[in-house]
Amino acid sequence: MKPASLLTINKHFIMSMNPTNEFANDVLDGLTSKPKFLQSKYFYDDEGSKLFQQIMRMPEYYLTDCELEIITSKKKEIIDVVSNGKKIELIELGAGDGLKTTELISHLINQKVDFSYIPIDISATAINELKKMLLEKFPNLHFNGKTGDYFYMLDQLQKGQTTQKLILFLGSNIGNMTLEQSIRFLKKLGHTLQTNDYVLIGFDLKKDKNIILNAYNDPAGITAAFNMNLLQRINDALDADFNLSNFKHIENYNTKSGTASSFLVSLCKQKVQLKKLNLSIEFETDEPIHTEISQKYDWQMIEQMADQSGFQIVRNLTDKRQYFTDSIWKLK
Ligand code: AVI
Repeated sequence: MKPASLLTINKHFIMSMNPTNEFANDVLDGLTSKPKFLQSKYFYDDEGSKLFQQIMRMPEYYLTDCELEIITSKKKEIIDVVSNGKKIELIELGAGDGLKTTELISHLINQKVDFSYIPIDISATAINELKKMLLEKFPNLHFNGKTGDYFYMLDQLQKGQTTQKLILFLGSNIGNMTLEQSIRFLKKLGHTLQTNDYVLIGFDLKKDKNIILNAYNDPAGITAAFNMNLLQRINDALDADFNLSNFKHIENYNTKSGTASSFLVSLCKQKVQLKKLNLSIEFETDEPIHTEISQKYDWQMIEQMADQSGFQIVRNLTDKRQYFTDSIWKLK
């Protein structure tokens, strides 16, 4: 590990470059840790977001199809559970690709439910694209997209109003957090809600190891390109010289814990310079950088998570193969 004093010097160096450069700081922390890691939230630059859209359309990436099947076949059940006949705010955390939400929105319109749709995303581009797509389909939709931090935006929405909310957190996005991080996140979410609000969370369920490994290590190499793009992002943003052909995408799945993990593994002993960080990083042959977890769940894990974060499960909806669940929760 890099001596603490040198790390401190690098941090001062970064702060003097740009005091808000969180990316530079996080890359420095991750690549000087042992074992090395990078945070998966940094996958989603423009190129990474395009690659993720391709992943969602891959036949091996069953998650999208399963969740679309659940929402398409159970939309009536979802709205019957959460709606009390009054106005609803349909709030989506992450703009998504709009496909699944389109199903819910068209059902709400057909049922003449009074609602507004409020997607919250860190990317203004994602919100604008979603707005364009949805308003073409549903010109009278009350679309009120918000750009920024989920919790800040939820707090703002909550101020002085009591409209019932249905919060969507789809796609097993929760699986990219550790169990501790998820509970912290959900507790925080709970603090922005009232007793008549509901949350619909997508969880990918534990299943045959090969089905999971195929979804995260597809033969066309799209997931590998998605993972590798993180090194390209570091090259571009921090003037680094990662040679991408010296790294390999590797996926692991721990059947017992249900954790799928992505790594970039160094194919040789090598040194990488990150000029903007004034940093040189050494890699041993076969040394991994951990880049992502995609947690898979069983029913007990979901129950415990709801309980520990102050929620109760109202209903679990699944696809025919029981690969995925959308779980409807409310506060305890
Ligand atoms: C966004 N998230 C839920 C995806 C997942 O399945 O963990 C990201 C992803 N990583 C590789 N493929 C897809």
